[in-house]
Order: sequence, then structure tokens, then C-alpha cells
Amino acid sequence: MKERELVVSKIREGTVIDHIPAGKAILVLKILGIDERTKETVSMALNVPSKKMGTKDIVKVEGLFIKEEELNKIALIAPNATINLIRDYEIEKKFKVKLPEVVKGILKCPNRMCISNSKEPVVSIFYIKVEDNKVFAKCHYCGKRIKELADYLI
Ligand code: CTP
Ligand code: ZN
Repeated sequence: MKERELVVSKIREGTVIDHIPAGKAILVLKILGIDERTKETVSMALNVPSKKMGTKDIVKVEGLFIKEEELNKIALIAPNATINLIRDYEIEKKFKVKLPEVVKGILKCPNRMCISNSKEPVVSIFYIKVEDNKVFAKCHYCGKRIKELADYLI
């Protein structure tokens, strides 16, 4: 993005999550555990014009270096997101999130009878698939398919 097109200030040190589907930035904040108690500087741009995506959202968090588990969750709701790790205003690392094949302990099975919802300490396991460009997940234990993954994030 050119300087004159900047929507929110550059950050000194932290993470920029770019190419988030429009409307999903708030969910990304939730995944990162950002809420009213957060002390870090956080900026968010919603419905920014994008050549590739039409419109997109962007999240910038000063001082945050994203964790693997958070990356997997973000990939589920923003499979084309780009992660930029910033140090001293420079992009130290840029990569696209990768859709995991299997997620453990990240999605809750909507099937109340599923063993993953019993009192036993059974960690939820879902297989992630893409069909018609849409991401869905299938429960390892009961085979239940879920489409709106955002609704089932643990
Ligand atoms: N960025 C930032 N602070 C910095 C450096 C970059 O907030 N110190 C942000 C930019 O504003 C942009 C993202 O990080 O949202 C990626 O920066 P850059 O690679 O320069 O932009 P593009 O070329 O548009 O990225 P891409 O090729 O991934 O679309
Ligand atoms: Zn299940």
C-alpha cells in the first residue's frame, strides 16, 4: 500500500494482520484476546478498498507477536490473511496464514451427544476442508459438519 493510501498509522513493533475479509476484524480481535482491558495500542480499519479483495479489514497491534494457536484460529475465519511482523517500523517477516488440516481444542462440536462434549476430558478434533471456496470442519468423533466456524471457536 502506498504512503498516501495509508488508512491507519504504521506501527513500530508488533503484528499487522492484513487482507482480513471485510467484517471479520472484530472477530480477529476477539481471537487475539483484545478487549477493553488491553493496554497495547491497537488499530483497526474496516471496509478498506482493496484491489485483490474489493474491501478488506486490517488489524494492527503494537507489541504483540502472534502465537501459533492464534494463527490457526485466524486462518479459519480469514484464510487469505497476511501476517506482517514489524520491528523498528520495518517488515521483518511477511507470510500468509495457512489453513490447518486438523485443529485440536479450537472448535466446539455443536452435537451435544458428541463424546467431545461429555464430562470426559476429550479434546475436540476437527478436520478442516474447503469446498466451493468455503471452509468447513468435520468432527473427528461424531462426523458433524460445521460451516460457520466463527460461531464454534472455543
Ligand atoms: N505496516 C504497518 N507498520 C509498519 C509497516 C507496515 O502498519 N511499520 C502495514 C502496512 O500499513 C500494510 C501492511 O503492514 O497494511 C503491509 O505492509 P506492506 O507490505 O508495505 O504493504 P503491501 O505491499 O500493500 O502488502 P501486501 O503485499 O501484503 O498486500
Ligand atoms: Zn462431534
